[in-house]
Amino acid sequence: QTTPAPMIHRPVSLPTLHAEIHDCTRCPLHGPATQAVPGEGPRDARLMIVGEQPGDREDIEGRPFTGPAGQLFDRLADDAGLDRQASYVTNAVKHFKFVQRGKRRIHQTPNAGEVNACRWWLDRELATVDPELVLALGATALHALTGDGRGLLKRRGGVERTKDGRPLLVTLHPSYLLRLPDPAARAEATRNVTADLTKALHLL
Ligand code: URA
Repeated sequence: QTTPAPMIHRPVSLPTLHAEIHDCTRCPLHGPATQAVPGEGPRDARLMIVGEQPGDREDIEGRPFTGPAGQLFDRLADDAGLDRQASYVTNAVKHFKFVQRGKRRIHQTPNAGEVNACRWWLDRELATVDPELVLALGATALHALTGDGRGLLKRRGGVERTKDGRPLLVTLHPSYLLRLPDPAARAEATRNVTADLTKALHLL
């Protein structure tokens, strides 16, 4: 009698993986979305940056972090001296989840079932890029990558492990910074994120 082989996520080429992501129907989010948004960046990137899901702009353009949150992230990364182009940037969930209000599409947080369904792709991106460090932006990415649903704010700035044992640094999502109404709180949270991005550079 043979024991079943453990499930191994074999590395494939990024274009093959991205083509498979574009065809994904693993959860209902593919229906209303314009397209899936796979990760972007070099296959040999040492850092993988993981957000939540594409926003309105990313859904239309088909690229991660090109809207307001992405633009803020790029500014903070610049300040910290972190080169986004050298990193692989992706999301825990590959389709935009939204409700339509008139002409506007309002972002909805993906639920645990949608995040779990999309882990299939996140696992393959991890296996293919094989980064030295993963940077989790916000709670959805943190929970998807670690399987540990404890709150984000107490874990921010800490180094943890992904489910497959890779070092993972925890920071806030740029959309959270954009939504903070109090300017002093926003300034402090922004300083913290910049410090986390600097820490990411030192960990590499
Ligand atoms: N927010 C995310 O988490 N990812 C994006 O790509 C854009 C906004």
